Amino acid sequence: MIRAEKISKVKEHVRAWKKEGKTIGLVPTMGYLHEGHASLIKRAREENDIVIVSDFVNPIQFGPSEDLATYPRDFEADCKLCESIGCDLIFHPEPEEMYEDNFCSYVGVNTLSENLCGKSRPIHFNGVCTVVTKLFMITEATKAYFGQKDAQQLAIVCRMVRDLNYNIEIVGCPIIREDDGLAKSSRNTYLNADEREAALILHKALTKGEELVRAGEKDAKKVKDEITKIIETEPMARIDYVEIVDWNQLQPIDRIDCDILCAIAVYIGKVRLIDNFIIK
Ligand code: PAJ
Repeated sequence: MIRAEKISKVKEHVRAWKKEGKTIGLVPTMGYLHEGHASLIKRAREENDIVIVSDFVNPIQFGPSEDLATYPRDFEADCKLCESIGCDLIFHPEPEEMYEDNFCSYVGVNTLSENLCGKSRPIHFNGVCTVVTKLFMITEATKAYFGQKDAQQLAIVCRMVRDLNYNIEIVGCPIIREDDGLAKSSRNTYLNADEREAALILHKALTKGEELVRAGEKDAKKVKDEITKIIETEPMARIDYVEIVDWNQLQPIDRIDCDILCAIAVYIGKVRLIDNFIIK
């Protein structure tokens, strides 16, 4: 597996692969890889000649009071995992490599970035769209793989690709969970034993919410209230949002009569966790 820190080195390899007519699958990550990331990399391995994983904690998608400095990192472990799946190249740039002095060009998607995580993280999705755009340009990937774990991110990236005619196919992949239901996340390592136990409330509440919708409940408020009530039984949990939006525009809805995303963000102690379900 090739390890590249420089954009020019990635481009050199990409040029050669493209010349040979090879397809390239890209999996963008911020590292500290777990089975959620692994599922994306495996899928990319199955569907492409070449697999590139980017491993970059992207500073411009973190707000000033967020966890950029403490975000967990273990590049050697990431390399081992990528190599074991058969990844061809891991791209691990320094921030200065991605953002040169006086960097001032950003990509953003309006409407879809307004709600859910966009409310409490106002610059987040512009940072995501910008870095993802750069990665698409650098790798010239045929397909890029994103998890439904970050459903709003997936929707926004798909819209950006459609609206701006990017030459790439976005593949959405299902949420990978721990045996007890907690969605796998690099941030789960922040949880102490009590918080880890308390974090189960997210999946428990969403499971009940999904049951209600599948049983025919059309009143979004009733579903949100039930989810909220369950989360509030956990003293360590503090709700950031519980929301039901239409999957197309990510706008809040009153009646459930379209494809929906039900998404929650909950603080367990100081750790902010997200989870969701989509019903089409
Ligand atoms: P990161 O949080 O490292 O996630 C990288 C990819 O892995 C995302 O597409 C995310 O949805 C997916 N993923 C994470 N946990 C998952 C799980 N439990 N099941 C399935 N997929 C999961 O998301 C980012 O990084 C960044 O915003 C990035 C897109 C790399 C831009 O910086």
